[in-house]
Amino acid sequence: MSNPEASRTSRGPVIGVFDSGFGGLTVLRELLPLIPGAHYIYLGDTARLPYGAKSRETIARYAVSSAQFLEQQGAELLVIACNTATALALQDVRLAVTLPVVGVIEPGASAVAHAAGSAKDVLVLATSATVQSHAYHDACLALGLRTTEIACPLLVPLVEEGWGDHHVTKEVLRIYLKDALAQCTPSAVLLGCTHYPLIKHVITSVLRELASDAAVIDSAHATAHAVTAQLGLNRRGHADVPATFECFATDSTDKFQRLGSSFLDQEIDSVTLLDLGG
Ligand code: DGL
Repeated sequence: MSNPEASRTSRGPVIGVFDSGFGGLTVLRELLPLIPGAHYIYLGDTARLPYGAKSRETIARYAVSSAQFLEQQGAELLVIACNTATALALQDVRLAVTLPVVGVIEPGASAVAHAAGSAKDVLVLATSATVQSHAYHDACLALGLRTTEIACPLLVPLVEEGWGDHHVTKEVLRIYLKDALAQCTPSAVLLGCTHYPLIKHVITSVLRELASDAAVIDSAHATAHAVTAQLGLNRRGHADVPATFECFATDSTDKFQRLGSSFLDQEIDSVTLLDLGG
């Protein structure tokens, strides 16, 4: 339920969730049914999207400003629902706020390790900035996995254009995945970008076409469970109280409502415009 008025009276935790734009709503979608009574404050930094092609300094500055805004709004816990911001700015955000901070990289790495089983080769698809940071490589290596990371910069604009099922998206995926499968034979593929869960079915079908039976994993589900673990079981007592959310965006609220509803898989009733500066 998108209802800020009701939200602040609920007795559950207030959780801040942020992303460079809409993609983090795939994480919020997983969180909503998990923690009854929680109130989520979601911030999509749409004016400064995409983060995936920017420098570490810029991404860190943007991520810190989003985190500080959510702390001022009363969040008790922060979720960086963005792979690029987690990969490049998790430490900066942790230093800038006094709240516990959960990112998507470690939960994603754990989920892909689980899916890979005894086979140790995994493929990570992500933005250029995430791949260059090697954050997934490092997190996967710590779990004993061999990782091949491939940057897929064309996928975010295609998903945002609503072209998930378009033949152009399939063709682009064929190019990326052929290149990746020439380098490795993964038993699991990790979708290391919040936009990719929306085209999970297309990625899976192109993998099958290329004779790969790799499991396709996204970090949204695992991240949501990492949040419940962080909160502790004693915070999950309001089974009869639905979770609520409110949304802020730094650019067009109309676009956020329209596109965001498909990422969240439910209507977004209202969005508040926010200016976080340049
Ligand atoms: N949210 C970003 C991520 O998960 C993708 C969009 C962007 O590049 O800003 O990496």
